[in-house]
Amino acid sequence: MDHTHLTPVALRCENRASPPAVDVANPRLGWTLHAPSDATRNSWQSAYQIQVASSLEKLAADTVDLWDSEKTASRRTTQVRYDGQPLASAQQCFWRVRVWDEADRQSGWSNPAVWTMGILSREAWQARWIGVEAAIPHPAPFFRYDFKVEKGIRRAHLYATACGLYRMHINGAALADNVLAPEWTDYHRRIQYQGYDVTDCLQRGDNVIGACVGDGWYAGRIGITFAVPGASPRGIYGRHLALLAQLHIEFDDGEQCVIATDDGWRYSLKGPIRTADLLDGIHYDARQEMPGWDAAGFDDADWQPVVERKAPAGRLVAQANEPVRVGQRIAPQRMLEPVPGVYVFDLGQNVTGWVRLKLAGRRGQAIQLRHAEMLSEDGHIYTENLRTASQTDTYHCRGGGEEVFEPVFTYHGFQFVEVSGLSQRPALTDLEACAVWTSAPEAGDLTCSNTLYNQIFSNIRWTQRNNLIGVPTDCPQRDERMGWSADIQVFAQTGCFNQDLAATLTKWLDDFCDAQADDGRLPDFAPHPFDPNRCFSGTPGWGDAGPIVAWCLYRNYGDRDILRRLYEPTRRWIEWIHRMNPNLLWREARHNDYGEWLNADTFQFDHLPSQGADMPRDVLATAYFFRSTALLADMAQVLGRVEDAERYRGLADRIKGAFNDAYVNREGRIVGDTQAGYAIALSFGLLAEPLEKRAFDHMIRRFDDYDGHLSTGFIATVLLMNELTRRGRADLAHELLNKRTCPSWGYSVEQGATTVWERWDGFVRGKGFQDPNMNSFCHFAIGSVGEWMYRNVLGVDVDNTAEIGQLTVMPRPSRHVTWARGYHRTIHGRVSVDWAVQGDRLTLEVTTPANCETTIGILSSDMDRVRESGRTLREAPGLTFIGTRGAFALVRGGSGTYRFTSVCDPALLESADQTGCGLVTGKSASATASAGLTASVEQRRPGAVPTATG
Ligand code: BGC
Repeated sequence: MDHTHLTPVALRCENRASPPAVDVANPRLGWTLHAPSDATRNSWQSAYQIQVASSLEKLAADTVDLWDSEKTASRRTTQVRYDGQPLASAQQCFWRVRVWDEADRQSGWSNPAVWTMGILSREAWQARWIGVEAAIPHPAPFFRYDFKVEKGIRRAHLYATACGLYRMHINGAALADNVLAPEWTDYHRRIQYQGYDVTDCLQRGDNVIGACVGDGWYAGRIGITFAVPGASPRGIYGRHLALLAQLHIEFDDGEQCVIATDDGWRYSLKGPIRTADLLDGIHYDARQEMPGWDAAGFDDADWQPVVERKAPAGRLVAQANEPVRVGQRIAPQRMLEPVPGVYVFDLGQNVTGWVRLKLAGRRGQAIQLRHAEMLSEDGHIYTENLRTASQTDTYHCRGGGEEVFEPVFTYHGFQFVEVSGLSQRPALTDLEACAVWTSAPEAGDLTCSNTLYNQIFSNIRWTQRNNLIGVPTDCPQRDERMGWSADIQVFAQTGCFNQDLAATLTKWLDDFCDAQADDGRLPDFAPHPFDPNRCFSGTPGWGDAGPIVAWCLYRNYGDRDILRRLYEPTRRWIEWIHRMNPNLLWREARHNDYGEWLNADTFQFDHLPSQGADMPRDVLATAYFFRSTALLADMAQVLGRVEDAERYRGLADRIKGAFNDAYVNREGRIVGDTQAGYAIALSFGLLAEPLEKRAFDHMIRRFDDYDGHLSTGFIATVLLMNELTRRGRADLAHELLNKRTCPSWGYSVEQGATTVWERWDGFVRGKGFQDPNMNSFCHFAIGSVGEWMYRNVLGVDVDNTAEIGQLTVMPRPSRHVTWARGYHRTIHGRVSVDWAVQGDRLTLEVTTPANCETTIGILSSDMDRVRESGRTLREAPGLTFIGTRGAFALVRGGSGTYRFTSVCDPALLESADQTGCGLVTGKSASATASAGLTASVEQRRPGAVPTATG
């Protein structure tokens, strides 16, 4: 039989590779098709077969006992639901897949993958919650339990969680490389547990399982409690730390046993972690270490029997997202000594995490580590912007030689570490930073000829990492660190280009839905540690994160379940806004009403207008009312709720009418006359076509008042960039991205920024720092321009809402960027792009994965001279020439590697009207980017040589 060159790789279960705890009864499976780059073009899958077995041996021996899908005709490679035998708690499922290609040629079996089921019912939890007598504050408790294993172990799997943060230990070592488990949820509603394969950690004979538990989000300080009257600064979820752990052992002879937390465990409060707080740091006293506490043979006579605790209210759920881990270790670049004996290490990169410090000191000598993002002009660390988060770790030496300090149960946002209390000058190599973030797989990268762009891109990536600590947060340093919803609303697409966030954002949307108020208001942040009925909910642009992020996941990962999950919460949100505003202008009940946050009206510059950038709040709110209602209609459509689709489409149309009547005049001027207002109205599709052009001109006119700069803030910045490109002014978008004066991304880079700032003017030479009450140097909102960079510098866009992925590759060279290369890994596989303009010649190499249709745009000043591997576009195998659009020749093809050349007159790189293609998100779903592009080109007769600009 003929074999296909396709190989199924990167097997995923519930969006993750080999998840160690899955609590979905019928998990969804997916894979990617790999084809060698020299393979024939246009490969696709015509059928698949999945096999799932309870052991690797059974799978290999073809005695599949859980599920055999048999050969199933389908192009689907993602979200295929397991449809076999019912699965039990802690069951291991080994699986493989093979595929058939377009010519019915069969592939070999994939390498096997595995997933492990979680604990599927309350009854299946045999473990009891255990804790200590005292309420917080008290030192971090250590727990231990000795047990014997008499037989050979086939496999062992541990499930654990805590009210607090925990680290499990087995037989003398910390168990896994995940940190800050069980991560943050609204513990009153959901507590995540984690699964670990511990087969290799156990031994025949004596074994010890132990844990250490810290305060964390559950009992420690969390952000902005100061803003909520009556909120306790710590212990928001509870004042008693507790641990829950259950170890499943399967012996060689098939027998099974469970070791679980119960009253046989013992604890001690005399360990070295005297205090540990997420915001304030840790106090570690090495004199109180208890060597061997987690191994057999330790004398625990002075440990106490644990206290059994009542189960918390929250439902136990398996952690859906990839764990937080140390993602990178970073060596400092230099060390300063602003006063004798005080050393400041500069990492050269703003990170989230902590440091590992090698030192030697007298027994009991106190060393202090303070963490900050910036230096003051006098060379001291700048800490005012941390507000009350002290980010300070204190270490008391054990004495007697070299020791190494690495904190747990805390994290800091910092580039600089001030170390004091040492008896001698440290070496630069004595310290390294451990940068932590949610370990979702990397999904994209780009490098280009413009070094400023490259630094901006790097700043965006780092800001993403630093703010993905289980929850997408606003900032990692001050006493805030909340899952602010508008921040991720505008950043989600950039986030998905950089990392595979399917699992992480699905989890966050659960947090978000958990925080819906009874009347339908959606939250300003999630998890919501306060009462959403009382505060921090119902804000335009923030509450709208629900439908917007859900749609983003649908678009990137083809996930309909997420639309199903968000449907009812979104419907209640829309109904609530409508109820409060029956005349369809969102003028009432806007709650915290942040508006176009941190726009140019908040700047302190004499040469820029002090007013006129802030979009009137009701205009912004009504625009979002329309946007979310249109999305709700789209969601209804996808989910087959035909009547709802019609109903909400009608409502959206009426909101649009009301918006235009109230806020838009015949010249296309929108009340407020702000850049933000035009960008939002255009990108949401709020204006009738004849007005669009005028409104767009107004938007551009408003640059003049800001000396050619942006005046937008959190919400509208990326929308404005997208609109410029979509409407033929990619040149202006490049100008903005290439600026180095304030406000611009380049301005912060000029000041040495290695992450994206919260404010455009966080620091201004000659003026100093902005208001320390709100001045983070690591906030991803305006980093949302990352999506623009992927779409226009690299040139890649994705729409995976159909079974067959729809890709667009259309780089926009400019006088500011003359080459770029990089990739984005979609759920169908990797798209790579490498392009360059040299002299008047453009080269563009594109590799696209199987099971996708790709539209490629090649910039050219002479359509007749565009070639692919030396052939004309009409002759190139596997490609269809579909027309031109502006100065782009457009072709469509499937998988393969394509090498284009064209003549690209240097004038074209300066040209204002280079493009004008529909590469933009933000419109109501039915008018998403690539779809718009495809439709408008297809109207042309195939074969005709169209020249008109679209
Ligand atoms: C946060 C933001 C958030 C905002 C609400 C700030 O304190 O840092 O990122 O979206 O409040 O306007």
